[in-house]
Amino acid sequence: MNPLPLCPYNVLIIGSGAREHALAWKILQSNRLNRLYVAPGNAGTANIATNISINPLDFEAVKNTIVQHQIKMLVVGPEEPIVKGITDYLTHQPETKDCLIIAPTSEGAKLEGSKSWAKQFMLKYNIPTAKYHIVTKETLKEGKEFLKTFQPPYVLKADGLAAGKGVLIIHDYHEACKELEYMLHGKFGKASETVVLEQFLKGLECSYFILTDGEKYVILPEAKDYKRIGEGDTGLNTGGMGAISPVPFINNELRKKIYNHIVHRTVYGLLHEKINYKGFIFIGLLISNNEPYVIEYNVRLGDPETEVILPRMKTDLLELFENLFNGNIHKCKLDIIPDHSICVVAASKGYPLEYEKGKTINGLNDISSLVFHAGTSIKDNQIVTNGGRVLVVNALGSTLKEAKKRVYDDIQKISFENMYYRSDIGFEF
Ligand code: AMP
Ligand code: GLY
Repeated sequence: MNPLPLCPYNVLIIGSGAREHALAWKILQSNRLNRLYVAPGNAGTANIATNISINPLDFEAVKNTIVQHQIKMLVVGPEEPIVKGITDYLTHQPETKDCLIIAPTSEGAKLEGSKSWAKQFMLKYNIPTAKYHIVTKETLKEGKEFLKTFQPPYVLKADGLAAGKGVLIIHDYHEACKELEYMLHGKFGKASETVVLEQFLKGLECSYFILTDGEKYVILPEAKDYKRIGEGDTGLNTGGMGAISPVPFINNELRKKIYNHIVHRTVYGLLHEKINYKGFIFIGLLISNNEPYVIEYNVRLGDPETEVILPRMKTDLLELFENLFNGNIHKCKLDIIPDHSICVVAASKGYPLEYEKGKTINGLNDISSLVFHAGTSIKDNQIVTNGGRVLVVNALGSTLKEAKKRVYDDIQKISFENMYYRSDIGFEF
């Protein structure tokens, strides 16, 4: 193992959402930090770090930034640069090969970048997941026959990244067959040239996060996000409209099953496959009849889950990251506060479809809760909306009820034209 670069570190975070603002906020508390940069960032990160206006998919520009600012640690927020190989690229460049990169190589990123690969991985390592069948154009007929073996609704998943839109859940068999054909013929471009058909599982969803060096790991607190745009979990899917942590229905018996049957086997699988993995794994779980199943893997932190988890973590994040590279990650004891954490997303009118931009945001200085920026920018010295999800407000409380009251008291003090938020995050508890 190479000696670690000397801290304090110059750190670069890649991304521009509330997850990256939350990471920046947390990393700023580390005594291992020298300078903090975010690329491209948003108005929130501009306030606490230095934004660098580059495209995260332009790996050469990322390399040049690392060289110019003597970056020793790179934290990659979103999946796209990871799946497209940012880690592979930078570790093969002489100028950046010693930078500590918190993101797996493209081989490990297949956990998210190829659903068929992930399903085969789960099968091989006996990780509980829904029954499935992989279909390509050549096997369409077989796929349609296979669908008949499932009870409706039918779950169709594009194999590759499809900006969070690649999963269809369809009630009618003939409609499902039609959609399967559309998908295989390019509905989601190359991403759906292969489709995973899956048995529909009924139950409660929950997100788990681990930080692993590909052999050992630490487990972060669990969270639950609220994906639908409408109250009572109705309407279109979004990136997430709010989240809570901890999750009331996760008890110790379930936790044990999740650790033993899912987390442990996942990391064992990576090790056995000789995959060099240094970063987060986000395990999307569905709990059905008190048994946990993996619905999906992501190779990054969740958004908005990060915005409820990090405020509960007292542990120094840079110290954790450093331990990924010295073989000691499993010895790190996470210091988690027992409080309930909740966040609510303020979105632009129209999201998750076409949305408005450029609206002035007011009231940000009037609230005591944490506010993480997502789609915001600065125009004429004012903070304006610049995305579908605009702001994420977080509050803690000794009970979920108390946290809810705080977050909703505060989010009302923020305003921009046609601001929308769900007023029922955490409603079922
Ligand atoms: P994914 O992108 O794989 O997380 O899927 C998006 C959403 O579809 C999940 O959050 C679940 O709500 C739902 N979903 C995916 N797979 C299944 C399944 N096998 N059974 C039931 N719901 C599912
Ligand atoms: N909140 C779900 C995700 O980050 O994919």
